[in-house]
Amino acid sequence: MSTYQNVDVHKEEGIFWLTLNRPDVRNALDQTMLTEIGQALNEAESDSDVKVIIFKGAGGRSFAAGADIKQLSEREPLEALVPGMQGLYKKIEECSKATIAVVEGYALGGGCELALACDIRVATENAKLGLPELNLGIIPGAGGTQRLSRIVGKGHALDMILTGKIVKGEEANRIGLVQYYVVEEELDEQIDNITKNILKKGPVAIKLAKQAVHHGYDLSSDAAMWIEKLSQAVVFGTEDKQEGTSAFLEKREPEFKNR
Ligand code: COA
Repeated sequence: MSTYQNVDVHKEEGIFWLTLNRPDVRNALDQTMLTEIGQALNEAESDSDVKVIIFKGAGGRSFAAGADIKQLSEREPLEALVPGMQGLYKKIEECSKATIAVVEGYALGGGCELALACDIRVATENAKLGLPELNLGIIPGAGGTQRLSRIVGKGHALDMILTGKIVKGEEANRIGLVQYYVVEEELDEQIDNITKNILKKGPVAIKLAKQAVHHGYDLSSDAAMWIEKLSQAVVFGTEDKQEGTSAFLEKREPEFKNR
């Protein structure tokens, strides 16, 4: 596996762990870290053993405190038009593996937006999520205005964006911002339960189910249903479908082969 400066990566039984690693600055996302997240993502994408990618922050006090504000202060208007962080997070959303954000401590600004781009969010009791960009005279620019409102609804999204309110783990779970809320001591067990369930699934089905949800979400119901049908037609042609249905009928666990 590659080694990086501002992210740590390791692989363990089908899981690719990607740890944001600048704890002294609460894992603020600088250009090096963003580039390295992209590289690590490519590494995970091209590894057929990987089914789940887990994003977490080093140090336990912060997932990521947002874009590096020092670098942000020097950015010119046209630099906001490059794919940048928004493009990277789209890549994360569209990645073929299941993605999980484990939020301990702060997930602010670009850190919160990174978590929003993942498929599943898990938060501990010390999690603090928010989009405080307006405090800096800017707006959320890495998908936050769009993904947050789609995930929690316009009311909660506008409340969080306009007031800069920081939402703690339990409230984040109540409004649907995170799917799991756990006390710190139960975090490992919860992650284990979630990943165990995903790891049992076939990779082709994971990929196509994800694409149907993400790509269908903003389409008309008819067009989205058609994407679902076409995706189903693809999985119907796979060996994994034969294996999954046969295993059920033969009362055994399936062994999916990714084909
Ligand atoms: N960019 C650059 N540096 C950051 C940072 C960011 N987004 N967030 C924190 N840091 C740095 C601080 O400047 C400080 O550096 P220093 O030790 O050289 O002074 C260090 O990380 C620790 O931060 P500090 O504020 O002392 O820690 P805290 O635990 O009291 O507070 C936060 C943590 C996350 C609440 C606070 O740092 C914060 O509000 N950060 C900015 C969040 C934000 O606005 N994000 C959106 C960016 S678009």
